[in-house]
This record gives sequence, C-alpha cells and structure tokens, in this order.
Amino acid sequence: MSTILSVEHVGVRFGGLVAIADLHFEVREGEIVSLIGPNGAGKTTAFNVMTGFLKPSQGDVRFKGTSLRNLSPHAITRLGLARTFQRTSVFPNDTVFDNVMIGLHQQSAGETQLRDRTEALLDWVGLGHRAQEKAGSLAYGEQRLVGVALALATEPAMLLLDEPVSGMNASETRIFVRLIRQIRERGITILLVEHDMPMVMEVSDRIVVLNYGRLIAEGPPDRIRTDPAVIEAYLGQGSAARQAAASVQEAAHA
Ligand SMILES: Nc1ncnc2c1ncn2[C@@H]1O[C@H](COP(=O)(O)OP(=O)(O)O)[C@@H](O)[C@H]1O
Ligand SMILES: [Mg+2]
Repeated sequence: MSTILSVEHVGVRFGGLVAIADLHFEVREGEIVSLIGPNGAGKTTAFNVMTGFLKPSQGDVRFKGTSLRNLSPHAITRLGLARTFQRTSVFPNDTVFDNVMIGLHQQSAGETQLRDRTEALLDWVGLGHRAQEKAGSLAYGEQRLVGVALALATEPAMLLLDEPVSGMNASETRIFVRLIRQIRERGITILLVEHDMPMVMEVSDRIVVLNYGRLIAEGPPDRIRTDPAVIEAYLGQGSAARQAAASVQEAAHA
C-alpha cells in the first residue's frame, strides 16, 4: 500500500504554548487510521494543519506527495483531502436535500445532474428518506451525516472526521461505524479523531496517540489498548477530572 498522507515533523506553537511538537506519522491508501489523545492533546490542531486552516511553525504535511505548506483549504480540498468539522452547521430552515444542493452548487453541473448527485449522496449516508425534512428537525446524529454528505460531495480520496460520533447515541454510533466502512470500501482513506474508545478500537486499522502535542504510541488497536504510555495518559486525565470534581464539591460545601 502506498502512502497517501505524511505528516512530517509538524510543530505548532500558539504564543508560548506548544500545541504540537515533532508530530510524524503516515497514512496509507485505503486505511482507517484514528488519531486519539486526551483533551487538549493537539488533535484538532493537527487536523487544522492538514487541511490548511493553520500553518505549522515547523515541518510539513504531504498529500499524495504534494506539500500542503502553501495551499489554501480550498486548494487542499480540490487535491482530494476533505474534512468534516467538530461541530455541525446546517441551514436549519432548509430541507436536508437543499442543504446538500447548496453545498454542491460550487460544482459546475446542470440542475438535473446536481439533483441526481444530491440524491445519491443522501442515500449513501442513509438520509434518503429524510431528504424533504427541514435540516433543523433532524436528530443531532443525523445532522452530522449532512456534514459527511457535503464532504463526500467533493469526491475526496481521503476524508478527515473530527469527533464524528460525539453526541450520538449507541445506535447512531453503530450506524456511523457502518458508514465509515462503506466509505472505505469505495476506496476513500479515512483519518478519524474520536473520543469513543470502543468505536475507535472497533473501526481502526491503526491508531496514532497524542499526549500534550507529542506522539506517544502508534500501532494496531490490540497493541494500543495495552500500551502502558497510552493507559497512563488516559488515567492521568481521569484523575485530573476526579480532582476537579472533588474540588467543586468542596467549594459547594464550604
Ligand atoms: N487558536 C488557538 N490559540 C491558542 N491556543 C490554542 C488554539 N487552538 C488550540 N489551542 C491549544 O492547543 C492545545 C491543543 O488543542 P486542540 O488541538 O484543540 O486539542 P484536542 O483537539 O486534542 O482536544 C490546547 O492546549 C489548546 O488550548
Ligand atoms: Mg478537538
């Protein structure tokens, strides 16, 4: 399998804060790779670098061999690297169908062609039967599928998903896992940022783990699950959360 994306020693600083340091990993064509790590580890920052929303202080990202350093987000999308955002934004008062049509209108095509394409995309993400409903009336999980349809509309070779199942219930998550597999079966490579560990372990071929902006582990789910550095990173977060919760209770009783 050939490399489709390579993250080459990327560093990002925000003033004095090192958000990412020396991040390096590759994604091969047809893989489903997850990028995980505790809150604030630098996952979204890494996505923003890969999609041209943020210029790295150091290093570079290559997509299909092309350096993304000087490319705009739009140019990167045109190269075939698409993303969904951590938060959904649909036009709530337009129908689901029109939401996708609006997104497609940047493509030069006839009206009939656009309608056919919209229909096909909605079927693909499982929203065909909701096409004529207002996007704002969809459940949260379904609204996120509109975002996936819009990303797929750009005909990407690779799709970056930022916490796609956050806020979804168990059955919505299951449906989404199936969708991810279907997308990959159509030849689209996937890089996933996600907090839902059972879902990540189930769907990923490989997992890359960040902690405080640094790569701490990389490998197949079975190895990541038992990696001491990974366990410690997540336990650390758990105990910090417990401490925070305890101090809130103390304050309440004072
Ligand atoms: N635009 C920004 N300006 C300043 N600090 C930022 C900015 N974006 C992210 N950060 C900081 O960088 C670190 C990584 O954030 P982020 O990439 O959002 O983490 P994650 O997505 O893994 O939760 C955090 O400490 C965050 O507060
Ligand atoms: Mg994030």
